[in-house]
Amino acid sequence: MAGAAQSGEPKPATAARIYDYHLGGIHNFPADREAADAVAKLFPLVPALARNNRAFLRRAVRHLAESGVRQFLDIGSGIPTAGNVHEVARTIVPDAKVVYVDLDPVAVSESLEILDGDERSAAVRADLRDPDSILTHSQVRRLINFREPVAVLLIAVLHFVPDDEAAVDAVSRLCAPLVPGSFLAISHASADGLAEPRSDDLAVAKDLYQRSTTTPFHLRSRPQVERFFAGQELLDPGVVWLPEWRPAPDDPTDFTDRPALSAGLAGVGRVR
Ligand SMILES: C[S@@+](CC[C@H](N)C(=O)[O-])C[C@H]1O[C@@H](n2cnc3c(N)ncnc32)[C@H](O)[C@@H]1O
Repeated sequence: MAGAAQSGEPKPATAARIYDYHLGGIHNFPADREAADAVAKLFPLVPALARNNRAFLRRAVRHLAESGVRQFLDIGSGIPTAGNVHEVARTIVPDAKVVYVDLDPVAVSESLEILDGDERSAAVRADLRDPDSILTHSQVRRLINFREPVAVLLIAVLHFVPDDEAAVDAVSRLCAPLVPGSFLAISHASADGLAEPRSDDLAVAKDLYQRSTTTPFHLRSRPQVERFFAGQELLDPGVVWLPEWRPAPDDPTDFTDRPALSAGLAGVGRVR
């Protein structure tokens, strides 16, 4: 992709490709790298945040598969990288079905490429702010049986929906068709745990990110993240910092001493 970026039209930065760059991926263009470097200069922990977020995703998917979930709807799934949901889930549930959903066409096309020939997975382009377009999508209807438990994953994506009511409404509509025993997993950027001046740095990084990409960015507090789980049974240990959610031996160690510096909150709820 780096070669394509050099020969083609300049592409504006996107959240998916900036995140890919922070994770050491190759699916990014010069504008993405520039924006990612500028954010990381102000807030050097961002690549570690991305690694810890990815580790939470892995732990959550393992836990959900071990709890018997066989269907996953991964919304804001991003560009495929190590430890994609279908790979992690199938280490426990070999016939797990996964639908990846993202707004970014590059994320979708790269996902389709790695899923080529996989009848139990799909990648579709849709917008989380329009939940019905996801729930009624032909590929979602083909693979996901809403009469059985489903895990809806909203990992590091809700902070790209700045309007609080729109975000809560989208989550509630996505969870409306889920039967008891289904799950919702969320991770979300938050500056709650950062003391001054780090929270200032994060606000500057946020503004910079917002100006250089097509996707605005919005931090939320712990109570605001907890609100997404309204009506569900929040699994232990609740909404906590990324490294604190059921840590595992293969986790990164960036924030072992200061989990709040991960700047990401995470939780899993069970639909009653
Ligand atoms: C930081 S990445 C997270 C990727 C993956 N979920 C993970 O945690 O590793 C955020 C992703 O959300 C996608 N995204 C942002 N706004 C979205 C929206 N309104 N609907 C669907 N996807 C969106 C971006 O394109 C990007 O791929």
